[in-house]
Amino acid sequence: MRHTDGRSSTGSGANRTEHPLNGVDSLIVVSNRQPYRHEFDGATAREPPIDTAGGDREVTVDRPACGLTAGLDPVLEDAGGTWIAWGDGDADRAVTDGRDCIGVPPEDESYTLRRVWLTEEALEGYYYGFSNQVLWPLCHEFVDFLEFRPEFLEWYREVNGRFADAAVDHVTGESVVWLQDYHLALTAGMIREAAPQETTIAQFWHVPWPTPEAFRHCPGGRELLAGLLGNDLLGFHVDAYCTAFLECIERFVPGAVVDSRLGIVRYEGRETHVVATPMGVDAAAYDERAREADGEWAAFCEEYGISPGNAIALGVDRLDYSKGIPERLAGVERFLESAPGFHGEFTFVQKATPSRTEIPAYERHGEFVRSEVERINDRFATADWQPIVYTEAYLPEETLSALYRRADTMLVSPLYDGMNLVASEYVAASVDGDGALLLSERAGCHDLLGTFAYSIDPRWDGEFAATIERALTADDGERRRRMAGLRHRVFEHDLEWWMDAQFGEIDRVRRVTAPSRGRSPGDPSGSV
Ligand code: G6P
Repeated sequence: MRHTDGRSSTGSGANRTEHPLNGVDSLIVVSNRQPYRHEFDGATAREPPIDTAGGDREVTVDRPACGLTAGLDPVLEDAGGTWIAWGDGDADRAVTDGRDCIGVPPEDESYTLRRVWLTEEALEGYYYGFSNQVLWPLCHEFVDFLEFRPEFLEWYREVNGRFADAAVDHVTGESVVWLQDYHLALTAGMIREAAPQETTIAQFWHVPWPTPEAFRHCPGGRELLAGLLGNDLLGFHVDAYCTAFLECIERFVPGAVVDSRLGIVRYEGRETHVVATPMGVDAAAYDERAREADGEWAAFCEEYGISPGNAIALGVDRLDYSKGIPERLAGVERFLESAPGFHGEFTFVQKATPSRTEIPAYERHGEFVRSEVERINDRFATADWQPIVYTEAYLPEETLSALYRRADTMLVSPLYDGMNLVASEYVAASVDGDGALLLSERAGCHDLLGTFAYSIDPRWDGEFAATIERALTADDGERRRRMAGLRHRVFEHDLEWWMDAQFGEIDRVRRVTAPSRGRSPGDPSGSV
C-alpha cells in the first residue's frame, strides 16, 4: 500500500504560488459544492455586493471561508483552469454566460466556474437520495439508515453524467480532471469513455470507504466500483480505507486484478493507483485568526450567559448522526454525575450546524439532540448556571476562532468520520499551547493525532466522562507536551502539504500510466 509522502511545509495554502502540476494543459476540478455562490439581495451572503448583473436586483457573492473550496481556490487562481460544480445560488444563472460559466474570483477573474443546474427532482434523487441516503450511511457504516428507491440511482447516474459532460467540454489534450468525493462515483468512468486518452483523471474520496460486509448492501455497487476504476488515481485519507476499497474490488469486480502491496488495480487494460493522503487544514490561517480573536470570547459569554472563567469543553459539528453528538452528551452527563466539584464551574458549548434537513433521519437526529440538551440542562442547572450551551446559530470566523482558542478541551467524538478537520482546526487555533483534544478512535485523523490526543471510544460514556475529567485536571506540563505534539503534526500535514501530496501523486501516475493510455513512457509532452 502506498502512503504518500508529499512535500512538508508549514506555510499557508492561501499563499502558495506553485504546485507540481504547473504546465499541464488545463486543470479541471469537479465537486458537488461550488467555491462561489451568487445570491439575490444577500440571501445567505457574507460579502458586500459585487455587481448588478441580475437586473435591478442586487447580487452578492458568498465566498469560500474554509475547507476544500477555500484551499483549492488559490490553486486554481494560480494555475487557471475550470471548476465544475452544482449552481445552488438563486442568482447563479443570472450571472453566468451562455456556456453556464463565470470568471472568478469576481474582482480578479483568473479561472472559470462552470455551473451544473439541478432541478428539485434531480436534487431529490441524486443529492438527498443516492448520495446522502445510500452512500453516506453506507460509507459511515450506518447500514440501517440506508433508504433506497430505484429513481435515486437513476438520478445519480443522470447527474454524474451531466458533471462528466461538463468536464469533457473543458478537456484539452493533457488535461488533469480532479474529482471530489462520493457524489461523483460514476463520473470518472463516464469521462474516461468520452475524453482523449491523454487526459488524466483523479478522485479524492473524502469519506470512509466501507468494509465489503457493509458495501455489499450498496445498490448498484458493482457499477460504482467500475466507475471509480475510470480514475488513474484514487485517494483516501487513511490506509484502512484503501485496504477496504481494494477488498471490495477483489470481491465484487470480476476481472479486476488487485496488487494490494502496491495499491494498484488492473482492469480492462488500465491501471488505477490507490493512495492514502490525510487531508489537512490551512493551519497558519487558523493560528493567525486565533491570535487576532480579541474580545470575542467575552462577547460570546455575555450573549450566552457563560461565566468567562469556567472550564470550557467545546463541540463543533455538522448536525449529522455520524458525529456522535448524543453519545458526547451522554459522556458529559456522566461527567456531571461523577464530578460534582465541577458544577457551576464547567460549561459544555456545542455549536451544531443543521445539515441535509430534508432527510428524515437528519430531522429526527436534530430533534433528539435538542431534547437531550434540554433534559440534561433541566437535570443539573441551577439558578445561575446551565451546564450545556447549545447553539445552531451561524458563528463568524472570529467567534469560532475565539472559542477554539479558549476551550480547555475539545470533544471530537464521531462514531465514524473520514478524517475530521475540526480536530485539526482546534489544534491550529490553540495558540496558547495548553488546550486538550479528546478524540474518537473512530475518526480518520486519529491515525495522525492519536498519540498526543486523549483517545476515547465514543460510545462508552463512563470512559468518556473519566477522560473529560482527566483532561481538565491534567497538569500544565502534560497538556503542553500533548498540544506541542499535536501542533507539530497539524502544521506538518496542513492543507498545502495535502495538495502537494495529491498533485505529486497525480504527476507520478500520469507518467507511469502513460503506456496504458496509449503513449510511450517518458514521452516529454506528457511531463510537467
Ligand atoms: C462532508 C462531505 C463533503 C460535504 C460536506 C458538507 O464533509 O465529505 O463532500 O460537502 O460533508 O455536506 P453537504 O451535504 O452540505 O455538502
